[in-house]
Amino acid sequence: MDNQDGTDWVYSEEVKKHFFEPQNLLMEDPETFNADGVGYVGSPACGDMMKIWIKVDKNSDKIVDLKWKTFGCASAIASTSVLSVMVLENGGMKIEDALKITPQDITARLAGLPDRKIHCSVLGDKALQAAVNDYFSKSGQRDRITKEEVSVVCDCLGVTNREIEEAVLEGAHDYNAVQGKTKCGTGCGSCKGRIEDLIKRYKSQYFDEKI
Ligand code: FES
Repeated sequence: MDNQDGTDWVYSEEVKKHFFEPQNLLMEDPETFNADGVGYVGSPACGDMMKIWIKVDKNSDKIVDLKWKTFGCASAIASTSVLSVMVLENGGMKIEDALKITPQDITARLAGLPDRKIHCSVLGDKALQAAVNDYFSKSGQRDRITKEEVSVVCDCLGVTNREIEEAVLEGAHDYNAVQGKTKCGTGCGSCKGRIEDLIKRYKSQYFDEKI
């Protein structure tokens, strides 16, 4: 029978610390926090949802406060908690530096996460990007907004690069595994090369695997 007190968890002490005492959770009414930008992402695959509120010092371009809320799992909670600490330490990071924090940086600060949980750690990352874009939009800096391009990579089945990314994050690390999840490439097969390139790119981006 499974140990019920958490002592057999595969999570590191750092993950447990941030899970049991999450930092920078939004406790107050969002209206009273008076954020400069708000970002929201949801993962249809696991039902996780993440919302981030930020305050920005316009002169220094630093994120000086960040709060978050989630309906996510232990990994999503710990990852976003540590992301919030990283962004706010030493008086707040400049926006451009905060956006450079990678899933590997977060995982390293947490002393590791199981591979199948990496997709939870990108929720905070993506919600932060969305909050920054919302801030750019509201503060008249639309030229700074970064958009993630979504495009169809398998025309026969209508599979997008976003779905390939999601499959890789969920642990599908080769063409057959991604095909099993998304059905990509099961028509004419001409998309195989494009899909393999994307798999390599996402594995490098999220799992530090060399291209
Ligand atoms: S384009 Fe993907 S199977 Fe035809």
